[in-house]
Amino acid sequence: MVVSEAPRIVTSRIGFEDSHTLVRYLDTGGYTGLRKALTMTPEAVAAEVDGASLLGRGGAGFPAGRKWSMLRKGPIPYLVVNGDESEPATFKDHLLLEKDPHQLVEGVVIAAYALQVARVFIYIRGEFALGLERVQAALNEAYAQGAVGRDIFGSGFSVDIVVHPGAGAYICGEETALLESLEGKRGYPRIKPPYFPAAIGLYGEPTVVNNVETMSNLPWIITNGAAAFTALGEGRSTGTRLFALAGQVRNPGVYEVEMVKTTFRDLIYAPVLGGGVLHGRELKAVIPGGVSAPWIGPAQLDTPLGQDEVAALDTMLGSGSIVVMDETTCMVRAAWRITRFFWRESCGQCTPCREGSGWLEKILRRIEDGVGREADLDLLMDTCDNLAPGVSWPPQQTTICVLGPSIPSSIASAIRMFRDDFLVHIKEGGCPHG
Ligand SMILES: Cc1cc2nc3c(=O)[nH]c(=O)nc-3n(C[C@H](O)[C@H](O)[C@H](O)COP(=O)(O)O)c2cc1C
Ligand code: SF4
Repeated sequence: MVVSEAPRIVTSRIGFEDSHTLVRYLDTGGYTGLRKALTMTPEAVAAEVDGASLLGRGGAGFPAGRKWSMLRKGPIPYLVVNGDESEPATFKDHLLLEKDPHQLVEGVVIAAYALQVARVFIYIRGEFALGLERVQAALNEAYAQGAVGRDIFGSGFSVDIVVHPGAGAYICGEETALLESLEGKRGYPRIKPPYFPAAIGLYGEPTVVNNVETMSNLPWIITNGAAAFTALGEGRSTGTRLFALAGQVRNPGVYEVEMVKTTFRDLIYAPVLGGGVLHGRELKAVIPGGVSAPWIGPAQLDTPLGQDEVAALDTMLGSGSIVVMDETTCMVRAAWRITRFFWRESCGQCTPCREGSGWLEKILRRIEDGVGREADLDLLMDTCDNLAPGVSWPPQQTTICVLGPSIPSSIASAIRMFRDDFLVHIKEGGCPHG
């Protein structure tokens, strides 16, 4: 097992105790990407990002350059950075916010310059107290340094950045709900179309929404050039990506690895990465891209960590969260816990999501508690079919946002891959794992 020796693009300085400070940032090449960008035209900066084929790291994997090119020509009012990151087992942006806030600020100013944006909002999950504190402190330092605010580094370009804490709702990570929340309203996802805030975004104006990790790649891309970025990875999946590795693995944590050149097996078993399954047990299944993704089994471990490669398995890399489940994991309980999360977080606007999530949670709960029936398996799949007709991947859209139609993923995976786990619960009147 050879782990690719790609450079660390977004985690190069997290080993330093003071990685969040301006002194360390400047000592390690900080703000050179921005200084370089300001010598280029905004169009040239945008072209460099487009040439890098930087896929958005927030979940959908939409190319950042293409998203930017969908905007009307000329300056646009708003750029919004999505640091809501509230999905269970997803914690890679958390690391960037706490450990390298200046990198984020620099990336944001580069993007703002390319898009000629005058105001940026960085929306950060409210529970990330330290992350919020450090990003705000970095922003204050950056203002004092002339890297944000009026006439940045004497270039004539000006932009203001506002840090906005969320209030603890997972749905506010969905970009249109986030915009509603920023506007001071309840965080309800907006009806589509328009599919992108590039058309109608914050306060009804064209807006770009990008993820924290997406933004954090920009200083490196501008400093080193798009070609250096595309030299890493393969096909559409260029550069490196952060993965939050969790569950029953020896070394859980956030790892930056080269896309495509690294497989699920490398990430989970390489001694310098996950180090293998906890207590040397057998691996039972893996959640490959956040709890809304369909699961994969041991036979798919040699799949490269690339967007198209994982999509070919009818699942996704999504939010960059990889959860390892070993042979002792109760799959009924796992599916129930995930469904319970979605039920609690459903915003309630759409009937299939609001009601369906509750029905699914209750049926799973009674199976786990030992009072389920064999007919419940068909009932579960039938209810899933109402949320996402065909229960396939990607799910068919029946609701305002994709939260609802993603709920069946874990349930369908658990029933299709581990039907016997359900039958044992039903026949033996409870969970054999206790
Ligand atoms: C229910 C739901 C939750 C989401 N949560 C997040 C989140 O916490 N952070 C994030 O960046 N994107 C999240 N997204 C995706 C955003 O809607 C959006 O696609 C993303 O912020 C765009 O940034 P990117 O193109 O740089 O990936 C979520 C989407 C959905 C449907
Ligand atoms: S699918 Fe669920 S979370 Fe999304 S808008 Fe509808 S009710 Fe709200």
